[in-house]
Amino acid sequence: MAIQSLGYIGVNATSLISWRDFSCDIMGLEDVSAALGDENTHYYKMDTHPYRLFVQHSETDGLRLCGWETNNQAGLDEVAAALTAAKVPFAWGDDALITKRRVQNILSFTDPAGNHHEAYWGVVSDFKPLNSPQAVSGFVTGDQGLGHIVLPAPNFDDTTTFFTEVLGFGLSDLMKIRFTPDPAEPVKRLWFMHCNRRHHSLGLFEMAHPAGCIHVMTEVNTLDEVGRCDDRRIAAGAQLSGTLGRHANDHMVSFYMRSPAGFDVEYGTEGRTIDDWSKYEVFESTVPSFWGHDFSVGQQG
Ligand SMILES: [Fe+2]
Repeated sequence: MAIQSLGYIGVNATSLISWRDFSCDIMGLEDVSAALGDENTHYYKMDTHPYRLFVQHSETDGLRLCGWETNNQAGLDEVAAALTAAKVPFAWGDDALITKRRVQNILSFTDPAGNHHEAYWGVVSDFKPLNSPQAVSGFVTGDQGLGHIVLPAPNFDDTTTFFTEVLGFGLSDLMKIRFTPDPAEPVKRLWFMHCNRRHHSLGLFEMAHPAGCIHVMTEVNTLDEVGRCDDRRIAAGAQLSGTLGRHANDHMVSFYMRSPAGFDVEYGTEGRTIDDWSKYEVFESTVPSFWGHDFSVGQQG
């Protein structure tokens, strides 16, 4: 497949300051807005990429878009050809967008659920490492991308077919979720998909979400760094939305907190990677986690 990783995300924010506090003081990202941004757009760095998160001043709070990285122009042309063949409208970026995103070429499209995406190649980088304001030693990125994202997909069949058949994502595992014990409640499907050796880069959940995103996951090097982030979350008064736990599918040890956009940020470590997907058996999980991850805390207060 042409798409190699989740390269960046863009967020809409009514308050750029709230996101600066959340990104720098809690997550430990580096604010590089002075070099890259302007009064309406702030940029945050996780690794040698110029940025992995941008926050755009807006009338609403929520996810703006996902940026998917391809290797080169041939890879991006492959994405364009797949969209064309599937009759999915897309637009090549103009010079202004190419300059703004700091890439060589880019195109934009919308998936069947209405989530916005960009695909691009050729990040412009000065290779400066992360200089975290919270002394985070680093995030697990590289060929695994910035982490993973779970998007709303109420029209589930159309959206999963788009990502698997058109864009070439592979299914990693799936869940069927009821929020009540009532067997009459229809199950909501949740599919996890991969585009590199990270267990999943994308999740699709069969429900709408007002923030346009269920959660974004970033991965750090050690469990101590997960714990220190939770200490910073407590000190900053940010809401816990899921307690510490280890996921059954990607083995991530993580907790969840509410971002200023209204979707959650999962902060984890020890996520597993799959080197040979041809030997990997897709499974259905009946539980999200081996232990922990009590999401009822997010319903309180
Ligand atoms: Fe996750």
